[in-house]
Amino acid sequence: MAGRIPETFIDDVLARTDLVELIDSYVHLKRTGKNYSACCPFHQEKTPSFTVSPEKQFYYCFGCGASGNAIGFLMDYTRLGFVESIETLARNLGLDVPRDEDFSQPRENHQPLFHILEAATAFYEQQLRNPKTRERPVNYLKQRGLSGQTAKQFRLGYAPQGWDNLINALGKSDTDLNHLIKTGLLIENDQGRRYDRFRDRVMFPIRDSRGRVIAFGGRVMGDDKPKYLNSPETPVFHKGRELYGLYEARQASNKIRRFVVVEGYMDVIALAQFGIPYAVATLGTATSRDHIETLFRHSEELIFCFDGDEAGRRAAWRALENALPTARDGRQIKFLLLPEGEDPDTLVRQNGKDYFEGLLDECDTLSEYFFKHLAAEVDTRTMDGRARLASLAKPHLEQLPAGVLQQLMLKRLGEITELEDIQLAAPLAAKAAPPRQADEFADYSEFEGLHSDQPPPYHDYDGESTGSGPSRSPRPKPVRRQALDKNKKRDEISLVDATIRMLLNAPRQATGLTLPDELQQLQLPRMETLLELFEFIKQKPDASTAAILGHWQNRDDSDTIFKLAAKEFLLPNDEQGPELGDAIRRLYLQKVEQDLDQIIAEGVKDKTRFKELLHLQKELSK
Ligand code: UTP
Ligand code: MN
Repeated sequence: MAGRIPETFIDDVLARTDLVELIDSYVHLKRTGKNYSACCPFHQEKTPSFTVSPEKQFYYCFGCGASGNAIGFLMDYTRLGFVESIETLARNLGLDVPRDEDFSQPRENHQPLFHILEAATAFYEQQLRNPKTRERPVNYLKQRGLSGQTAKQFRLGYAPQGWDNLINALGKSDTDLNHLIKTGLLIENDQGRRYDRFRDRVMFPIRDSRGRVIAFGGRVMGDDKPKYLNSPETPVFHKGRELYGLYEARQASNKIRRFVVVEGYMDVIALAQFGIPYAVATLGTATSRDHIETLFRHSEELIFCFDGDEAGRRAAWRALENALPTARDGRQIKFLLLPEGEDPDTLVRQNGKDYFEGLLDECDTLSEYFFKHLAAEVDTRTMDGRARLASLAKPHLEQLPAGVLQQLMLKRLGEITELEDIQLAAPLAAKAAPPRQADEFADYSEFEGLHSDQPPPYHDYDGESTGSGPSRSPRPKPVRRQALDKNKKRDEISLVDATIRMLLNAPRQATGLTLPDELQQLQLPRMETLLELFEFIKQKPDASTAAILGHWQNRDDSDTIFKLAAKEFLLPNDEQGPELGDAIRRLYLQKVEQDLDQIIAEGVKDKTRFKELLHLQKELSK
């Protein structure tokens, strides 16, 4: 956590993240013209007013005013903090988050930890070849049916008997010892005594998505407890995120058709050896939403395979609950519960690849498993039981993204319970509303209660209306768009805003222009923001809209600028108003007129200045 995240890194992450893809993984988006839309996840509504611009990498809700970029979305939607949101985005991109070093704490560098973990992996692998130590572990692996090639592919190893093998091999200096402790390979007890964590165990290195070893599982060869010992959570290992076998699966094929999520290390390995290289395992933890999203980034089909015992059924249901929000159209989720006492390892070894793939092909879909599981909890022969089934099912169905699956499951629930017309809570029921028209403004008109043949609604963003937090500010009053020239007062206010919008829309425009110094003193709302924005773009001519918004993210005036950016990307091209240069000229004219007013009010003491200003006014009015 030490150090600050460099701004260039934030820019980079924003530049590489696709906001549409990101939001779509949480809220199903529909294409509407050049933008995407959905019912807003931040307030309840029946027609979609939440809009995402792929071009601007920016979202905006016409209902509640929620707006932002990828970071803002994660912060609001997942309630992650700023830093965690950046970390999440970086992780999706396979990037490590760097930290500025010139801050109070030194930057945390994980490199030595990866280095020592790699050295330990090589050491354990070596022990599997070492004639002095190899016999028992090799016999064990052979007896479990593993080939030498598979052992090599998964980099299996052996941690020999004794308390200090790893210490002696790798703990050459205090620094090394420290790193060994940090990675959990050594344990230091209360008396300060250090010893190897893994002793006399077959070692399973756990690799991250880039193939770096980040932790280990170690299995006893007999009946000792615990059967598997795992690395603790460390700076480089977070159980809830990692999937055993994911790296290996991705190595095995570059287009993964499906994943099967199994319970154990040996299941992944046995399946791979028998020609099913797409198995992954959670590391003795429940399948998290994070796990599921990770897998869906590489494949559209996911099969959860669990033991048929009580623990397996519970794990499967937990997985289902976490999978529901991710089950959007185009993705398939299935469940395979194995007969009690069997696991994928035993089944594939006894019956082979075709048999096991047959099970995968034939197993329950999410919907089938869902209703089977719930029906087992109630008596569907009675009316009470069926009513209970409906009330058990409903909250789960509400977790599904709007789409075909949700509709089908709702229909199925109606059939099973013999209840007609089961209604889900408003926001999701509304998501299943009829498809939107291609014209992206039609729905907003409808939302605003205007006829669709009228121009798009235009909200009033005068200073007063900018409220609290972006996602929870009250819905702005609908106001018809005012042409820039029609109303003097509105013109003054909106000219600054219009200029901000133009800058946000096409930041590069600013690079060839200079702002007259006089504008520094122009007294208009948001003039300071405009000047600052101009300055910012001058210094970073390559900044995209998303990058600029990223910089404004945590500031007091971020609300305003986000709203203005939103207005800009929804404006049809012919409504873009004056060109940037023209807008600046008109702003300058306003400044001149303000000065003239003042000079006149003071009785025109400085005639030369007065003439100058009159001349300027004439020039600028041309
Ligand atoms: P299982 O008990 O189902 O074992 O644990 P398994 O995978 O079939 O192992 P084998 O076939 O006997 O070798 C499933 C998973 O739960 C975690 C491990 O990740 C294991 O692969 N586990 C289990 C532990 O972390 N510690 C344990 O003591 C047991
Ligand atoms: Mn097993």
